[in-house]
Amino acid sequence: MIAIGCDHGGIALKAEIIKYLEANKIEYKDFGTYSSESCDYPDIALPVCKSILSSECEKGILICGTGIGISMSANKIKGIRCALCHDYFSAKYTRLHNDSNIIAFGARVIGPGLATELVDVFLNTGFEGGRHAVRVDKMMALENLEL
Ligand code: RB5
Repeated sequence: MIAIGCDHGGIALKAEIIKYLEANKIEYKDFGTYSSESCDYPDIALPVCKSILSSECEKGILICGTGIGISMSANKIKGIRCALCHDYFSAKYTRLHNDSNIIAFGARVIGPGLATELVDVFLNTGFEGGRHAVRVDKMMALENLEL
């Protein structure tokens, strides 16, 4: 199950990505927003992240205008590794090397053709582990530092 969510800036791109998920028979849960009325991206990032942490969903897709606010919000949540990607190489390598559990897009930055290609490689690329697992473990340990 894939979690998907966007703010008002990402509505049209979310609809295109949902078309791709449905065409490929990929189950998804849509956490909104559902209208073009202005909303706040942290309010969407939170339920998407919670669904991943509870294992209801395996991975997530988040969209806002730039992708920045919603990815920054997601990365505030323990256990989340959200990668803002607008190119194929990053979408592939953030799975191979960072074991990212969410990909984020800026709907005002990329079009639906590229975004669906990035979703495809993100969902179909595994984590390489090995030396990268050591690094991801160290990354996650940063969440518990008392500075
Ligand atoms: C909303 O206007 C916009 O600020 C938001 O979608 C996003 O781009 C923020 O990072």
